[in-house]
Amino acid sequence: MARRQGEERRQERMEEARKLLKMGEEGFRIAEDLAHSPDDRLRGVAAIYFCACNDPRAADRLRPLLSDECPDVRLRALRSYAAQIHPARSKKERRPRRVQKPPPSVPPGIDALLPMIGDSDVKVRSCAVEALAAYAPLRDRRIESALQQALNDPKHQVRHAAARALGVTCPGCGVRAGVSKSSVSHVEIIVVSSVEAYRQWARELAAPTDAVLEIGCSTGVTTRILASKAAQVVAVDNSVLLTERLRGELAGRGNVQVALADGRDIPKLIALLAEPTLIFLDIGGNARLDNVALQARLCLTAFRPRAMVVRSAEMTQFLSLVSTVEPPQADQDRWVGRSRSGDDWIAYLLDLSHSSSVESRVFAARQMRSHDKAALRKRLQEMAADNNPSVRRAAAMALRGLGEAQVQP
Ligand SMILES: C[S@@+](CC[C@H](N)C(=O)[O-])C[C@H]1O[C@@H](n2cnc3c(N)ncnc32)[C@H](O)[C@@H]1O
Repeated sequence: MARRQGEERRQERMEEARKLLKMGEEGFRIAEDLAHSPDDRLRGVAAIYFCACNDPRAADRLRPLLSDECPDVRLRALRSYAAQIHPARSKKERRPRRVQKPPPSVPPGIDALLPMIGDSDVKVRSCAVEALAAYAPLRDRRIESALQQALNDPKHQVRHAAARALGVTCPGCGVRAGVSKSSVSHVEIIVVSSVEAYRQWARELAAPTDAVLEIGCSTGVTTRILASKAAQVVAVDNSVLLTERLRGELAGRGNVQVALADGRDIPKLIALLAEPTLIFLDIGGNARLDNVALQARLCLTAFRPRAMVVRSAEMTQFLSLVSTVEPPQADQDRWVGRSRSGDDWIAYLLDLSHSSSVESRVFAARQMRSHDKAALRKRLQEMAADNNPSVRRAAAMALRGLGEAQVQP
């Protein structure tokens, strides 16, 4: 009873706190009181308020909350503080992750952020690395040494973020992160060699809102990790034996679907999970680079996950040799828009029509029927002589659908 009353009272105060956001000077004064509340959530509300209020005193009021006893309050205070001191701050750029352009100079308030690299909470440390990463291009000695310190962090995600900020090889997975990041993809691509690192990323990346596509699930070790973290997991493998066994073993887990599929069979993957937010791709750590690259490219053309983890020893070796990457040209952006129409879609169909998967070529031919474009007609003519009868048939039907009556399947 007493606990319920306490909860109700807390809810009321939270409601009051939300109203404060519209209250200007009065709101600022009450937020200053809330910052001293014994209730963690209310101190967190104060941290958010100080970020939202657009008041020059906000950074000062946030500074004590950076060493709050509660990690969640420290995290909120850190995000708010980083946004306050960033000179390019705009309302849309409150979170340091969103800060894109390097600022013109290091703000004096940066000193309060530096010790947070050693915080006891991993989320706070990650956020501190992200906040400092925005200033890495300025090559400030204090910031560089804080990021260097983060390279020794016990958590891989922190080490990886620090390595990316510094443009060096991640000591955790051996990947020189960031250099190959495409400006058109907006997908975090993580390449690892060992199965341990791959599974570690499953533990660290997957979140309760994620829908994960796992290609090459094998006996399901990574599948189980993903299923314990994410909302939904679709795990595929091209082995009948392995998928049947795993389906039986995971039958009781409502958020996992195990399917027999070739990872290159994009139409089938789309039917299983149209919009994965994460992709885990492991068709064998020693699989040939060209096979892994084709698989990865097909996935990136069809889906827009927030991150993709690829396991490939050859790819890590290759990437570790890369020192410079020219930014991709705009016309290479072949992302499929949500509407699956327009030039992106046409380019994608042309790309897919060269897939080594028969199903993908058939799918491409069938889709081409709905678009009367010279390039597609030309490609369909070629596909009408494909060495697979299903592809020839699909191409002939598509051409007839486009009015080329003389084509025989
Ligand atoms: C090394 S195992 C994956 C191990 C798994 N990541 C784990 O953590 O246990 C590679 C799996 O990829 C599957 N595989 C290989 N080529 C494939 C493809 N084209 N499509 C789907 N699965 C494939 C293999 O059958 C094998 O089970």
